Amino acid sequence: MANQDKINELIEKRAKAKLGGGEKRIDSQHAKGKLTARERIDILLDDDSFEEFDMFVTHRTKSFGLDKQIFLSDGVVTGHGTIDGRIVYLFAQDFTVFGGSLSETYALKICKVMDMAMKIGAPIIGLNDSGGARIQEGVRSLAGYAEIFQRNIMASGVIPQISSILGPCAGGAVYSPALTDFTIMTEETSYMFVTGPKVVKSVTGEVVSAEQLGGAKIHSTRSGVSHFLAKDDETNLLLIRKVLSYMPSNNLEEAPILSCNDPIDRLEDALNEIIPENPNQPYDMVDVISIITDNGEFTEVHRNYARNICVGFARFNGRPVGIVANQPKYYAGVLDIDASRKAARFVRFCDAFNIPIVTLVDVPGFLPGTGQEYGGIILHGAKLLYAYGEATVPKVTITLRKSYGGAHDVMSCKQLRGDINYAWPTAEIAVMGAKGAVEVLEGSNIRKIEDHSEKEDYIQQKEDEYTERFANPYQAAKYGFIDDVIEPRNTRFRIVRALELLQNKKDVNPPKKHSNIPL
Ligand code: HXC
Repeated sequence: MANQDKINELIEKRAKAKLGGGEKRIDSQHAKGKLTARERIDILLDDDSFEEFDMFVTHRTKSFGLDKQIFLSDGVVTGHGTIDGRIVYLFAQDFTVFGGSLSETYALKICKVMDMAMKIGAPIIGLNDSGGARIQEGVRSLAGYAEIFQRNIMASGVIPQISSILGPCAGGAVYSPALTDFTIMTEETSYMFVTGPKVVKSVTGEVVSAEQLGGAKIHSTRSGVSHFLAKDDETNLLLIRKVLSYMPSNNLEEAPILSCNDPIDRLEDALNEIIPENPNQPYDMVDVISIITDNGEFTEVHRNYARNICVGFARFNGRPVGIVANQPKYYAGVLDIDASRKAARFVRFCDAFNIPIVTLVDVPGFLPGTGQEYGGIILHGAKLLYAYGEATVPKVTITLRKSYGGAHDVMSCKQLRGDINYAWPTAEIAVMGAKGAVEVLEGSNIRKIEDHSEKEDYIQQKEDEYTERFANPYQAAKYGFIDDVIEPRNTRFRIVRALELLQNKKDVNPPKKHSNIPL
């Protein structure tokens, strides 16, 4: 063969590989409202930055007539490219080839990019759209999954791992995304479940659709499996770019600091008025966040799950931070099982990747009741406590209003190595609220009063006394548990300065094999 013929052969092979399962299947993919693996990569990466590996890999199975069905790339496109100029590794499952199902060689391709990402210290991104284990390959496919899981585990806390779910993701295949840091699901076209609707029906008799069982909405609101909900493939992919912008490429680096055109010392009078006079009246913590962060930006994680706590990424003077904030707008911002798990996982992510944590506190306590106790709130609440206490990144805490009881301790208090703890003058830092305290302390006296209005007056007087004495920031400030009581309108500046002060902070944990966080 002449050299030019050899080059032409290469060009033909490349063109063939790029067609995946062929035009018909590409049309069918588009008809479902989904993009192909390569179209997704084009959106995800910086222009012309994609370098593909293993385009000529094919499967090795001869049975079931597969020897006559050979597709170059074997159903997964792998390689590296850049996002905002930084290297990332990725794999994109190609549903047009055997429904994106995973063969032995397909798994090897994924493992190769995961290994490269670890060597180089770059994030790994998985674009999932697959019918799961390639049935014809049997246990070799299962082994391939396990190879991937093992790499997910080794990469955890070393390089950021992001999973987009852009189609089916079923059976044990769901465990790779579950092991990664963030999962983004596309509405209506993606679903995740360990066992599909048919198996559910045959085992339990329950009749449920794929969407109800494991659609993007369910996992973004009920289970918390998905951190972000995207309306379509493009939004999903652009969100990956955004989320990565807050992170370093690996755990030995710092996240990139952007130039900031938002004045750091702007005084926001609205904050002086944001806390309602009535302590039982809610306000929206996201309003506070968007007033104090650079250009009002807040990339909220788990926005629709456990809404009584907000977590997400923002910047102060260009420096990325993780924000954890009780949300009085939902259930008064109480801590419950889901909120504790959500925040604990986020705090641990930030700590693993050197992202400072800003905590905004307005928490009436833990949610009482059998539902929570039987569900193990003791263990789940301990996760958040543990995560804060274990974290060595800079921790800046602002108490806006309530900070009661165990929840006070959990929410990044001074003794959990909180570095800078400020409070607004409206803060109420105490063992419990006035109502509960008076019921406990004055119960026997109250019971002795027979006249109803006299009883009410007595309770009110005792509650006022308690509020006056304990429901303020000064008791905590008196002991140095709060470093300063600050004017709310100056909060942005105080946080920026605290973060700058803490940028070279060094804190270490004792040597150990690994911690034993309550699970
Ligand atoms: C081989 C598969 C496949 C699979 C789909 N295909 N899944 N081939 N192994 N797992 C093929 C189909 O035969 C079909 O080929 C093509 O992909 C497209 O599939 P369709 O069924 O036509 O597409 P659609 O109607 O969109 O349905 C998609 C689907 C369905 C819901 C994913 O294909 C499906 O239920 N597949 C099986 C899912 C499953 O049970 N997987 C195993 C899960 S257990 P042709 O040539 O006809 O177009 C698992 C264990 C992992 O994954 C364990 C890890 C520890």
